[in-house]
Amino acid sequence: MIQFSNVSKFYDEQIVLKDISFNIEKGDLVYLTGPSGSGKTTLLKLVYRAEHPDDGQILVAGWDVAKLRQKTIPFLRRNVGIVFQDFRLLPNKTVFDNIAIALRIQGLDPRLINEKVNDALNDVGLKHKSHALSQHLSGGEQQRVVIGRAMVSKPTVLLADEPTGNLDVETADIVIKLFKEINARGTTVLIATHNRELFMTSGRRVIFLRDSAIEKDIIP
Ligand SMILES: Nc1ncnc2c1ncn2[C@@H]1O[C@H](COP(=O)(O)OP(=O)(O)O)[C@@H](O)[C@H]1O
Ligand SMILES: [Mg+2]
Repeated sequence: MIQFSNVSKFYDEQIVLKDISFNIEKGDLVYLTGPSGSGKTTLLKLVYRAEHPDDGQILVAGWDVAKLRQKTIPFLRRNVGIVFQDFRLLPNKTVFDNIAIALRIQGLDPRLINEKVNDALNDVGLKHKSHALSQHLSGGEQQRVVIGRAMVSKPTVLLADEPTGNLDVETADIVIKLFKEINARGTTVLIATHNRELFMTSGRRVIFLRDSAIEKDIIP
């Protein structure tokens, strides 16, 4: 579902990822970790074509990502949901509107939008907050809106970049539980985190980045 073959990425002269290869199967939930600056965010950006590799091949849900034309990128992004650490919600819009926004941009029928947004709200347990302004939600609830927004187009892949970075331990647990539920329903999930607590006892695959390379890839 996400396959890197000999991928390298530079920023100017600095090498960030060097000859990286791995394969994440459909339906997996995988953690990506490593010290700050080890390239976790860059690797995720390569998956959804926010960055372009300097070498190698990247296959995501059947797309040859590096070869995509600019106008095809939005189709890739509908298959790849993204959850950032800083929530990037519109604070003075409702929960519903925050989740609906991409669907409106796509020009979907309002009735279909209603159906999809309500499904997403159910998925993240926020139906009762549909009309609340996102700025009035707790941090954990805001992160659930972000996850709902990422899931509304029913992507086959969900990427999360330090999704618990701003949350206390209890709230982080709830968010991780949500990722596991989403994964159990069939979505492939890749979570970048420097928080060892999240993956140490998870029993899931963990890819460790260090010095531009995969230091270890622990597959349970
Ligand atoms: N847009 C950019 N331009 C130049 N250097 C960057 C850019 N983004 C990240 N870097 C550098 O690339 C390295 C990896 O960064 P990043 O992928 O953000 O790592 P991580 O998410 O593991 O902390 C760091 O040295 C960082 O400073
Ligand atoms: Mg990062």
